Amino acid sequence: MNFSLTEDQLAVRDLARKLAREVLAPRARELDRRHEYPSGALGELAGLGLLGVNVPEEYGGAAAGAVAYAAAIMEIAEACASTSVVTAVTNMVAEQIVAFGTEEQKRRFVPLLTSGEAVAGAFALSEPHCGSDAAALTTTARREGGAFILDGEKQWITSGDHAGVLLVWARTGGPGAKGISCFIVEGGAKGMTPGRPEHKMGLSASSTVPLVFENCAVPADRLLGELGGGFRIAMSALDGGRIGIGAQAVGVMRACLAAGARYAKERRAFGKPIAEQEAIRWKLADMATELAAAEALVFAAAWLKEQGRPFTREASMAKLFASEAANRATKEAVQIHGGYGYFDEFSVERLFRDARVETLYEGTSEVQRIVIARHVLQ
Ligand code: CAA
Repeated sequence: MNFSLTEDQLAVRDLARKLAREVLAPRARELDRRHEYPSGALGELAGLGLLGVNVPEEYGGAAAGAVAYAAAIMEIAEACASTSVVTAVTNMVAEQIVAFGTEEQKRRFVPLLTSGEAVAGAFALSEPHCGSDAAALTTTARREGGAFILDGEKQWITSGDHAGVLLVWARTGGPGAKGISCFIVEGGAKGMTPGRPEHKMGLSASSTVPLVFENCAVPADRLLGELGGGFRIAMSALDGGRIGIGAQAVGVMRACLAAGARYAKERRAFGKPIAEQEAIRWKLADMATELAAAEALVFAAAWLKEQGRPFTREASMAKLFASEAANRATKEAVQIHGGYGYFDEFSVERLFRDARVETLYEGTSEVQRIVIARHVLQ
């Protein structure tokens, strides 16, 4: 058993760390305040290969594997969680096209994502009436000549108004999972209209929009995988995606622990730094312990993925634990800061808001427990 990153993985982590510390962290508060999408940062991430970390070089990726990917997302999220989710979804979309696409689809769409030319990728699965019960989606795709015509509505789509390449799930057959197919849709496609960006509690610098499809004609050769095989693509994408969100949660926890420890040493009360109060020390100790456990779970799931071994259960465990722990950590980091923690001069205010969605998106904590329990009972 080896707990260290390899030299290649360290190199990717260090590239991400340098960009995160020098470029992303100094801008994070302003982007959050202005609700400004991190377009510039995405270009820089693309330049370093970080929009296709686990994508083969022939399609413009870094071919560095799932562990390096997790390490990179941790660094990016520690600096700016908004940028990390946009990065994670773009990587996820690129990986799915590599995994399920035809050679023509891979050559055409993956380099657009990895180079930053497409700005970002988007993953359009959820709908207004179904998030957790993804197999109940009602957007339809009917075949007409050489195209599929998409009609319906998607909701909460990260980067849906910026992405040049979107994966869109629609019903091509009967009810349930087997009637769902997945399509590659280009940004700006006629008949696809992004709605007003949502006003969110956190991740304010990422964009989350509804998408309306009205008579949106998608050429038939944009079907990803098999007709009726879309649900499996969504589930396998989310297995990897959950490693990404677990890694995001780890990054947020690292930022909380660092901010909490720094403030505790500086802030004095009752004649001494508050770091000397047991109440504060125990919070920091618990945060550090949960952070170490979350890191271990995320890297273990990523390692299994990299080995080509089953990792569905482990990805759900990593996402469940890390996202719940990040919410505990951000709450305690605000508490350590006292009244100051409530104001956005201190990063913990933003981290508290950013962490909240981690137990919700890419499968709620309840969905992760469904997945884990099914594996336990199998
Ligand atoms: N990999 C491959 N195939 C899988 C799979 C996996 N991990 N999990 C299930 N499948 C297959 C099954 O084998 C089954 O196929 P067969 O019938 O051929 O055996 C088929 O998919 C249906 O599986 P289930 O019966 O398990 O499906 P279900 O309806 O019971 O759903 C669920 C299970 C786990 C609850 C699933 O619906 C789910 O994960 N829901 C949450 C959806 C989600 O995470 N949405 C997030 C939106 S995206 C987002 O947030 C991105 C963003 O922008 C940040």
